[in-house]
Amino acid sequence: MRVGVFDSGVGGLSVLKSLYEARLFDELIYYGDTARVPYGVKDKDTIIRFCLEALEFFKQFKIDMLIIACNSASAYALDALRAKADFCVYGVIDAGVKATIKALEDKNKEILVIATKATVNSKEYQKRLFSEGFIRVNALATGLFVPMVEEGIFEGSLMRSAMEYYFKGIASPDALILACTHFPLLSRSLSEYFGNKTKLIHSGDAIVEFLKQKERINSKNNKPQLHFYASSDLDSLKNTARMWLNL
Ligand code: DGL
Repeated sequence: MRVGVFDSGVGGLSVLKSLYEARLFDELIYYGDTARVPYGVKDKDTIIRFCLEALEFFKQFKIDMLIIACNSASAYALDALRAKADFCVYGVIDAGVKATIKALEDKNKEILVIATKATVNSKEYQKRLFSEGFIRVNALATGLFVPMVEEGIFEGSLMRSAMEYYFKGIASPDALILACTHFPLLSRSLSEYFGNKTKLIHSGDAIVEFLKQKERINSKNNKPQLHFYASSDLDSLKNTARMWLNL
């Protein structure tokens, strides 16, 4: 099976890493819209337009499925993409919600969603979690983490200050949804900050579990072939891929 993975830039490589290691597919074609990242500060119509352009780009590869790794794009563009695609299109939000349900024993547990402004404002996570019966759901836009991760700042005093800035006065939640492609790279720092009580929900791992169940796919013997495309600076995206995926 040949599967496309789309993201606004390099961040979706965190989702690609999970898909690559899970060995669910024969080929993974990653496309990052690095010329126009970030999507997380853009409005709905712009995000939808960019995603539909990405869909046109993927059509040349005759893919069997498209995975939207970007949370901001998943929050706004799934319906528009599904209306135009002749293959399955999956986003990461349903998968993240399913993983959260699995991680928490009861609906009174406290959930914090951290994401870009676009994802938080869409309320997609909040709506789904409330409709699943959770009552203590908060969402916080922590956009500063995105450029920091891209600078390779995953821990240390600068990251600690950014966390204190965003999380001041916030008690450790039972689940922290890393609702942005970049945030799994901060897992260690976030766990240190919030402590053992907080379970981290990672979009990449969540989509792997989701696809295994939904599409009934089992792991293959070989790792998938990888192909990388970017709308700008492909070399830098490939370098990041080498680091994040240990290629
Ligand atoms: N990929 C985006 C997301 O997961 C983060 C970067 C951006 O704002 O484009 O929401």
